Amino acid sequence: MGKVYEATVTAPVNIAVIKYWGKRDSALILPTNSSLSVTLSQDHLSTRTTIRASPDFTIDRLWLNGVEEDINASKRLVNSITTARKLREALEEKQKQDGIPAESVVPLSQWKIHVCSENNFPTAAGLASSASGYAALVSALGTLYELPQTTSELSRVARVGSGSACRSMFGGFVAWQAGIADDGHDSLAVQVADRQHWPELQALILVASDKKKAVSSTAGMQTTVETSSLFAERVRTVVPQRMEAMKEAIAKRDFETFAEITMRDSNQFHAVCLDTYPPISYMNDTSRAVAGLVHAFNSARGRTAAAYTYDAGPNAVIYALKSDMRDLVELFTYCFPREDSILPDAFYPDPFSIFDSPEQ
Ligand code: DP6
Repeated sequence: MGKVYEATVTAPVNIAVIKYWGKRDSALILPTNSSLSVTLSQDHLSTRTTIRASPDFTIDRLWLNGVEEDINASKRLVNSITTARKLREALEEKQKQDGIPAESVVPLSQWKIHVCSENNFPTAAGLASSASGYAALVSALGTLYELPQTTSELSRVARVGSGSACRSMFGGFVAWQAGIADDGHDSLAVQVADRQHWPELQALILVASDKKKAVSSTAGMQTTVETSSLFAERVRTVVPQRMEAMKEAIAKRDFETFAEITMRDSNQFHAVCLDTYPPISYMNDTSRAVAGLVHAFNSARGRTAAAYTYDAGPNAVIYALKSDMRDLVELFTYCFPREDSILPDAFYPDPFSIFDSPEQ
């Protein structure tokens, strides 16, 4: 048996407060607009990936949550692995040019790999995200291959797997800069602030439905780009201004501004989905009831004390400061009891779903 090289990495899920929705290049996954997210704690929602490389492996193989999958079935997966292998190949070439004897350069780029990837959250919760999956894959390849690239540079490789994955390469507050280049070299993630910057900020995930979404993000955003006129306005005037205002709110730890922009951007993203033809509707009655409750809570407090945001599905993510979170959890538990819910979808604010977002 030849030598086996191995790397294990954990990457968390991120939740966007300025949404990515729309591609200008579907093959390279280049977005129509920049976006910004908060990376959640890896203790709660994350993917742990181990990759092994050996001269004895005859084919690339992949296990997802213990079940073997066809690694070649996903073009995006193949693209990410191929891109990382090319970076390793370039490194091996450089090592030889630098005078390192050829026999001391480990030809990892030529060896097949075995990838084993597991989520630490129930896949049935409908929160499974390709973001943590591709971020973990690319970070593990970066470690295994000892790539010299920075995390931002490696985020380009995660991006070709799934757009939002590039933001999960960092903890804390992360911007994905859309970039303008056709080859995508400037379309990458940068950390806006680290996780220690705002320890009082917390996120609560409310599972409104664990069903698989009817329209995937990839397909939905494509139809939006082709059919929505509201979308064009969002990309041109709204998002650039919001990106700047959001970065400033984070820098100043100004929760009220952070919260208002977060809710407005989620609302506009879902408005754009409804403006898509045929329309896409990700939120359900429970989601709308939660949004209404957050606004009622804010009016009762006389300030913007909580924010909601929804991705391509009905589950809510609530952002609030630690000092308000306990009351919010009580309120949601009271209004949406786990059993005998009057609403069509049961609603589960479990204690496990409270995250100290930037504290991983
Ligand atoms: C609504 O990153 O899943 O969550 O690039 O096609 O893989 P692909 O799409 P994906 O889209 C995420 C969309 C979103 C908003 C966001 O995370 O910014």
